Amino acid sequence: MASSPFISLLLLLILSLSSSFAQPSFRPKALVLPVTKDRTTLQYTTDINQRTPLVPASVVFDLGGRNLWVDCDRGYVSSTYTSPRCRSAVCSRAGSDGCSQCFSPQRPGCNNNTCSGTPDNTVTRTATSGEIATDVVSIQSTNGSNPGRVVQIPDLVFVCGATFLLQGLASGTVGMAGMGRHNIGLPSQFAAAFSFNRKFAVCLSSGRGVAFFGNGPYVFLPGIPVSSVATTPLLVNPVSTASAFPSGEKSSEYFIGVTEIKIDEKTVPINATLLRIDGTTGVGGTKISTVNPYTVLETSIYNAFTSAYVKEATGRNITRVASVAPFGACFSTQNVGVTRLGYAVPEIQLVLHSNDVVWRIFGANSMVSVSDDVICLGCNLYLFLYLLILLTHYLISYIVMFSNTVATHYLSF
Ligand SMILES: *[C@@H]1O[C@H](CO)[C@@H](O)[C@H](O)[C@H]1NC(C)=O
Ligand SMILES: *[C@@H]1O[C@H](CO)[C@@H](O)[C@H](O)[C@H]1NC(C)=O
Ligand SMILES: *[C@@H]1O[C@H](CO)[C@@H](O)[C@H](O)[C@H]1NC(C)=O
Ligand SMILES: *[C@@H]1O[C@H](CO)[C@@H](O)[C@H](O)[C@H]1NC(C)=O
Repeated sequence: MASSPFISLLLLLILSLSSSFAQPSFRPKALVLPVTKDRTTLQYTTDINQRTPLVPASVVFDLGGRNLWVDCDRGYVSSTYTSPRCRSAVCSRAGSDGCSQCFSPQRPGCNNNTCSGTPDNTVTRTATSGEIATDVVSIQSTNGSNPGRVVQIPDLVFVCGATFLLQGLASGTVGMAGMGRHNIGLPSQFAAAFSFNRKFAVCLSSGRGVAFFGNGPYVFLPGIPVSSVATTPLLVNPVSTASAFPSGEKSSEYFIGVTEIKIDEKTVPINATLLRIDGTTGVGGTKISTVNPYTVLETSIYNAFTSAYVKEATGRNITRVASVAPFGACFSTQNVGVTRLGYAVPEIQLVLHSNDVVWRIFGANSMVSVSDDVICLGCNLYLFLYLLILLTHYLISYIVMFSNTVATHYLSF
């Protein structure tokens, strides 16, 4: 689990919001999508109800993905499918200025004088070229606690993918839903369709989670212990991190400014330059991703971090045991206490834009149970992080919670 030029944080994200409906002519204030964890691939999936007649398209939920893409080669049937003409406003919004021809029989994904995008399997990092299209999407609205009417977006922009691009994705999925910062990312399109603020919130849990789009106020469920609340700016990586992209495009992924990594308040000695995004190459920095099953670290950071962690753990009389792939540092649970925050292991601290804004990662989140008596340093999804992303101001606020009772409470709709 080493050798990637960024740190990718895999987190359990959860959020609840509350608002009320007042208008007589119905305009939703928020939309909701289910987010489910796939046990085999550890990817998150969601269902997008698309096309005419409507079908639920199961797609991988990709927090930093640029746009929605679905397989148009196989089984795409819809009377409302449209491919916008090249050089139209939709094409330019989608960041595509070319003009494409298709030499196969006409069908969704194959039309002339259209524009094309690059559907990107961000799990396997494979991209291809595909027609930019629009179709009807229908989505559940919510007032925060209860589901509301199903509303329609007649012309949601997406990109046509190909069947081979589905390789490596959770079984049964037909594409990926990009929640990234691009104009045609789903949060921006949902906000534009119903004129609500460009913000969204996600809960990723080991079972069923949820994503909310739109206006709050976001009210967290009462009675849940909140261990920390913090806000940090999201950073823009000026170079796209997609597998293929139009030249000059910014990354649609969400980066945060980790400036220092500590374990039990002791700084891990690393080359801090690697924590910064290199503005020319786009390499470096810390992104929040949902497509890597566990945290990924650049090799030298991984090595320094693991050895510092092992040292700190053995200082607490925690016994290191043989590694269990893909993890490098595993421990016996024998001498490890259990607290409300999971196993009583050394605490990881990510110092953000200022010294007093620290993302604390406790045992519940840092340890993966690989067997009854062995835990490994990785990323476990029992920690609840309420994450709110404001696209307009590039802010992320997060609230880390340690109760997993909430999940069953309101994720059941
Ligand atoms: C949401 O709707 C339900 C049922 O319509 C209602 O009981 C509840 O009070 C509403 N909640 C908010 C926060 O508006
Ligand atoms: C696109 O135009 C070319 C050239 O005129 C033609 O051969 C082809 O069949 C057309 N494709 C479609 C899908 O209409
Ligand atoms: C730190 O990393 C940067 C970027 O890879 C490199 O240019 C620099 O030489 C490194 N510094 C040290 C002290 O290793
Ligand atoms: C670790 O174990 C040693 C020997 O059993 C004991 O003296 C020491 O106090 C223990 N340290 C901690 C932090 O529990």
